[in-house]
Amino acid sequence: MPTQQEISGASDAEFVERMVERYPRRFNDQYWSVFRANVGRHLPAEPAIADLGCGPGLYLRDLSERHPDSRLYGFDASAAMIDHARGLRYPAAPPTLAVQDVEKEPLPLAAGSVDLVSMAGVLHVLDDPFGVLAEAQRVLRPGGVFLLDDWVRMPLAQYVQDRPRHRGTPPDGQRAGWLRMFPFHNKYTAEDWKWLLAEAGFSLVSTVQIRPQSQIFVAVVRMLPAGT
Ligand SMILES: C[S@@+](CC[C@H](N)C(=O)[O-])C[C@H]1O[C@@H](n2cnc3c(N)ncnc32)[C@H](O)[C@@H]1O
Repeated sequence: MPTQQEISGASDAEFVERMVERYPRRFNDQYWSVFRANVGRHLPAEPAIADLGCGPGLYLRDLSERHPDSRLYGFDASAAMIDHARGLRYPAAPPTLAVQDVEKEPLPLAAGSVDLVSMAGVLHVLDDPFGVLAEAQRVLRPGGVFLLDDWVRMPLAQYVQDRPRHRGTPPDGQRAGWLRMFPFHNKYTAEDWKWLLAEAGFSLVSTVQIRPQSQIFVAVVRMLPAGT
């Protein structure tokens, strides 16, 4: 499977820049009010939170502002992303950050030690989502939350309409880029995501759509009935 940088035709540095530039649009006030209502208010006072595919670290920075007594962990396959995250100023204790391919290596976290695992814009990239979902299950405490925010399938016309335009890039070049990304972003429907989460042993608690191209799924580790 090619990396996201290869698919999008960007260098590591350009991909970091792109993620930083798009962050405020994606994680806006509406996102954080959905987060507070569906996730934040259910977390303990000193939650352990792991962000898989944490990108440039801005999400961890904003979590540290909202949950100043949290223990934060960020993992990303790209050294450039982790370097950016290391250079940020965090309102509270900085996260523990590591360059790690979450599809290939187990998380360096004890079983049942985490309250929230989040993945934003990452799971669709992995060849096999089940391995990392099993790791999320392992590190989450019983009742711990898995927060998935990812692309949902849509018609090409709508996808193209919602793509950002880059000034200075010819229309043909932009169109070629969109078409290259389309099969990756358009991989799973909302129903597919729900099926994957159920197959991996999560119980879906809520789904929220605040942007046309993506959906937020809040799931918890499914409890086995007593005696099983
Ligand atoms: C679209 S970016 C999203 C970054 C961040 N979660 C956000 O929402 O701003 C996807 C991130 O996942 C990372 N990634 C892709 N495959 C990965 C893997 N197998 N293991 C760890 N990180 C991965 C990429 O390096 C990139 O930083």
